[in-house]
Amino acid sequence: MTNLTPPSELLTRMTERYANGEIPWHHELPPPEVIALAEALPPGRFLDLGSGLGRACIYMAQRGWTCDGVDFVAQATETSRERAEAAGVAERAHFHTASVAALDFLTEPYDLILDVGCLHAQTPEDGEAYARHVKRLLKPGGQYVLFAHLTNETDPDTRQWTTEAEIYHLFLPDLTVERIERGTTTIGESTWASAWFWMRA
Ligand SMILES: C[S@@+](CC[C@H](N)C(=O)[O-])C[C@H]1O[C@@H](n2cnc3c(N)ncnc32)[C@H](O)[C@@H]1O
Repeated sequence: MTNLTPPSELLTRMTERYANGEIPWHHELPPPEVIALAEALPPGRFLDLGSGLGRACIYMAQRGWTCDGVDFVAQATETSRERAEAAGVAERAHFHTASVAALDFLTEPYDLILDVGCLHAQTPEDGEAYARHVKRLLKPGGQYVLFAHLTNETDPDTRQWTTEAEIYHLFLPDLTVERIERGTTTIGESTWASAWFWMRA
């Protein structure tokens, strides 16, 4: 996890991004990996950590899932609620303004927990707290699916995200890694490693 950005600085930066409309991750549909989950799994309980403008929760709610999205930017959760209302799924898609490191208010376990682009930006302490909540909130046999940017460990000058070793430290042996798809992400002129992880409780 990055150790360059204290959480309050991250919240300030993300709040400004939403206020300025700088949200390149937002699209109408969730990523294909999430759509594939919706096609493969029967509806159940779904938690999206760092839910942004709610695209994954709204998509899953439209397919019968009961969804909770958590994001610490109030504008993001407010807009998500409006979008869920407009999509007719407000009763099945709930959005909470909270840190992914402080999830004590969630108690009922989930069949599927998703993170597209949130864990990799957390401090080590918040990452540990987040992982404790994921392990607490996942039903036995449930899935945790993570997309994360990865630090280029051979180039210390590049931006610090997280590493596969840090991810395994957080979740293994409680969860089992069933599949990894490694790739790269390009934003503007920068390209870095990234990966999808499918894990099971
Ligand atoms: C890269 S965006 C991805 C949003 C969403 N997952 C998507 O795919 O559309 C990461 C999101 O995580 C949120 N976030 C980052 N750190 C967080 C934290 N500690 N607690 C709650 N939300 C956080 C940001 O506000 C942002 O909306």
